[in-house]
Formats: sequence, C-alpha cells, structure tokens
Amino acid sequence: MNKVDLRSDTITLPTKEMLDAIAGAELGDDVFQEDPTVNQLEDLAATKFNKEAALFVPSGTMANLVAVLSHCQRGDEVILGDQAHTFLYEAGGISAFGGVHSRQIPNQEDGTLLLEDIKKSIRKEDVHFPPTRLICLENTHNRCLGMPLSVDYTNSVTEIAKINSLSVHVDGARIFNAAVSLGVSVTELTENIDSVSFCLSKGLSAPAGSMLCGTKDFIEIARRNRKALGGGMRQAGVLAAAGLVALEKMTDRIIDDHKNARTLAEGISNINGISINLDRVKTNIIYFSLDHPKVDSALLLEEMAGKNIHFFELGPSWFRLVTHAGVSEGDVDDVVGEFERILS
Ligand SMILES: Cc1ncc(COP(=O)(O)O)c(C=O)c1O
Repeated sequence: MNKVDLRSDTITLPTKEMLDAIAGAELGDDVFQEDPTVNQLEDLAATKFNKEAALFVPSGTMANLVAVLSHCQRGDEVILGDQAHTFLYEAGGISAFGGVHSRQIPNQEDGTLLLEDIKKSIRKEDVHFPPTRLICLENTHNRCLGMPLSVDYTNSVTEIAKINSLSVHVDGARIFNAAVSLGVSVTELTENIDSVSFCLSKGLSAPAGSMLCGTKDFIEIARRNRKALGGGMRQAGVLAAAGLVALEKMTDRIIDDHKNARTLAEGISNINGISINLDRVKTNIIYFSLDHPKVDSALLLEEMAGKNIHFFELGPSWFRLVTHAGVSEGDVDDVVGEFERILS
C-alpha cells in the first residue's frame, strides 16, 4: 500500500514546478538584500497581506521568535495561549534568547483566548510587574483542533490591544487554511494586527521557509534580529524560488485538503471506539480519541504502521491526523478502510 503520512503537513515535498524554479532561480547575497528572488518573494508576501514589508526566514519557529524579539525588550511580557505553538513547541526561545516573559492564558477549544482573560492579564504600571507589550494569537490553531480564528474575533483582540498600547502578532503558520475555511482573504484576517508570520513549507509545499510581514520599521528591526539569530542566508533565492511558486500557485489547492479532512473525519466518526467532534473539523487537522475494548493506542499505531499509514498520538489516546498535498482522496478511502478493519 502507498505510504500515507498523516503526521503533519510539514512533510509535503516540493512540486516539479518548484524544483524547476529552484534550478532557474536568479541569485545574489540576501544579507546584502541583493538576492532578486528573495526580494521578489518578500514583495509578493507584503502585497498579499497588504503590509508595508516582509522578511524571508528559514522556519516558522524563527519567524515567531524574530517577531517577539522585534516587538519586545528583555523583561517585557507577552500574553499567549497555554496551547500556543510558540509556548509549547518552540524550545522556549522567546525567554531563552529574548528574556521575554510569557503570560499563558487558557486557550479555548476553538483556539481563542477569552477577551476577559486577555484584559485581566494586562499588567498595570507597577515596579513589581514585567510590562505587558504583546499579545500573540495562532491562526489556525494547531493544538486546538486546527480551528480558524474569525476576522471579528481577531479585531476584538486588536481593539483591546489598541486601547492598552500593545501590539498583536499572529502565528499564521496555516493562515491560508484559516482564510479558505472562513471564506475570507488573508488581508481581512490580518488587517489590524501588527505582524503575521506564515509558513511556505506546510500546506503550500515549499521545502523550507516562512515569511514575517509588518510595517517597514518593524521589518527593519526584524532583519537585524534574524541576522543575530543566524538566520541571514546568503543565496537564499534557491529556497525563495520555491516559496514564490508556493505563494502564487498552491494557496488555491488547500480546499482539497479540507475536503479530504472532512471525508476522513466523517468516515471514521461512526467506527467503534472513536470519538470525534465533527463540528470542530474546519481545516486540514483532525483530532480524535480512542476508547476501544480490545485495541489500545499502541496497537492502533502499530497496525496502521504495518499498512504504511502514519500519524501521531499527541496525548493519551488522543490522536491527530493532518491532510496535505501528499494525501489523495484514494488514500483517505484506504485509511478509513483500515480503521474499520482494525476497530470493528
Ligand atoms: C502553528 C505553528 N506555528 C509555528 C510552527 C513552526 O514552524 P516550523 O516547523 O517551520 O518551525 C508550526 C509547525 O508545525 C506550527 O504548527
């Protein structure tokens, strides 16, 4: 059987068009801002998000780190969700390298932070407290069932930020999934926020790279921070060439990943032992839990791996399946068939 890798959309491989673009890319030294392909990608990203400027960085993790370092000084505080990727999965970089204090508030199941919680977490001016400087959101929210945050919700947060002179950064690793799911543009989703990062290397299938978008002044600071972190790549146009194809050609196909996720979720929803909230399947990420009289987590994963189907258990008996360009409709049917076989 075909390998069906549902562990993450980060495993997507570059398309033939990307490989051709890489081979033909015009190159220069990007630390001197002389790589025409990187410059073109940065211009395109800024235009697509209607921001003044953009910066190409090696990864989503570095994009978020650079963003936080560029908004905050050492000793400042950032408000973010307790399920945020930046809090859980980025090696604590914002505190390790930036000396930035994190204030985690509970993420709701839909990926939001309660507005009341945000308001209550903003520090008063007091010598005892780290000054609150930034609020971080994540859209779509990876740990919170891949849920998209709406334009209205995002604007409610930016409104609070504005009143309190704070900035807002959105970890938009999968912001195109959010836009497709909500039927809005990425510009609408990010209109009032100060900075947004997004990944070229997930649903958009580029081999590496993320973008950070914001004002010209912000991106100037971010460029210095990227250099300080060792993220100034010289002939980075080899990667940016694939990123251009990703941004120009791959955003429209994300809807297929959402359709496949829905088919997969519906297909397994009635299988003995599986619990899944279909109302919360909005993008390319599905979570389900397992409670079966004969099959435990280890056995399920082993049986599936035996059929070359791979996915992660992210908590006890709690699993994640991610659809992407490497997963076809036929693969989805095969996976549902295997769940039925193992759990019936
Ligand atoms: C929401 C979110 N933000 C950031 C990242 C980090 O991206 P990268 O793996 O490119 O560092 C990920 C990676 O999966 C993610 O899911």
